[in-house]
Amino acid sequence: MPATALLERTAPLYTRVQSVIPPIEWPVFAEDIDAILDLKRRRNAVILAHNYQTPEIFHCVADITGDSLALAREAMTVDADVIVLAGVHFMAETAKLLNPAKTVLIPDTRAGCSLAESITAADVRLMRARYPGVPVVTYVNSSAEVKAESDICCTSANARRVVESLGVPAVIMLPDEYLAQNVAAQTDVRIIAWAGHCEVHERFTAAEVRGLRSDHPGVTILAHPECPPEVVAEADFTGSTADMSAYVGREKPARVVLLTECSMADNVSVGHPDVTFVRPCNLCPHMKRITLPKIRHALETMTQEVTIDPAIAARARAAVERMLAV
Ligand code: 13P
Ligand code: SF4
Repeated sequence: MPATALLERTAPLYTRVQSVIPPIEWPVFAEDIDAILDLKRRRNAVILAHNYQTPEIFHCVADITGDSLALAREAMTVDADVIVLAGVHFMAETAKLLNPAKTVLIPDTRAGCSLAESITAADVRLMRARYPGVPVVTYVNSSAEVKAESDICCTSANARRVVESLGVPAVIMLPDEYLAQNVAAQTDVRIIAWAGHCEVHERFTAAEVRGLRSDHPGVTILAHPECPPEVVAEADFTGSTADMSAYVGREKPARVVLLTECSMADNVSVGHPDVTFVRPCNLCPHMKRITLPKIRHALETMTQEVTIDPAIAARARAAVERMLAV
């Protein structure tokens, strides 16, 4: 049981998350949070956390939170010595690409992504050979090696804009087939897709969405564009995790469903006590590998540093920077 002084120090943080963390769990979290806040000062470190991180990470130790696009933009301007990326490996690689002089730590190197794992650099070269001259737009949910073979990157927040910015009749869009199909539905550009899927979002079905509407009359349904197109077609709004969060803040729906990873609803609900969140969530096992004890361990030992082969990094960085310039 942590000392009373520690519980008093962390009490304001608990006030922030008490709607989503039961009191019995807090003392365990409080000890790691207190240690991490101290380590951040000693190491001159900042923690960037994705919207899918659990509330005790997202609301209690993170300095910067957001979707993949926001984390990439913020990573560029961090001037602390150390970046801890509370998210999955491709996000840590993107931070390292954009701010190579910093030490970037990922608390668990096994925090992967089914999309990133669905394609290799050799696959991209084969696609180029099959469709000569067609530019390759690669979702940031990919390895640095795959980015290095690409013309430009995109995220869920800017995919259509990036595709249309190229001014060409057709693009190859990798590796998320559903994101590619959802963008294709909004643009005249012909999209050639790859058959990668997010193991979290592919599980939502149109029948499930219809069931939610009939069980919760008047509910507003927001979907991530990694969901299958028939799910997106049933939703009221589709956007990146940051777009979904902004929608709730702007529109203040009385009752809402976020068709995305579980922790999103917890994190967004903290700032919107008047909104009821219906939670048919799916867990991302990769995001859930990141925990407070692992963040603490990474900062204590300065281990799990992300490194990228300089030759690959230069080409991958160019693809990410082209996206940020759009
Ligand atoms: P966002 O960029 O929308 O946060 O999505 C990242 C992700 O991994 C979604 O599954
Ligand atoms: Fe990858 Fe899906 Fe997990 Fe996002 S939710 S990190 S796309 S597996």
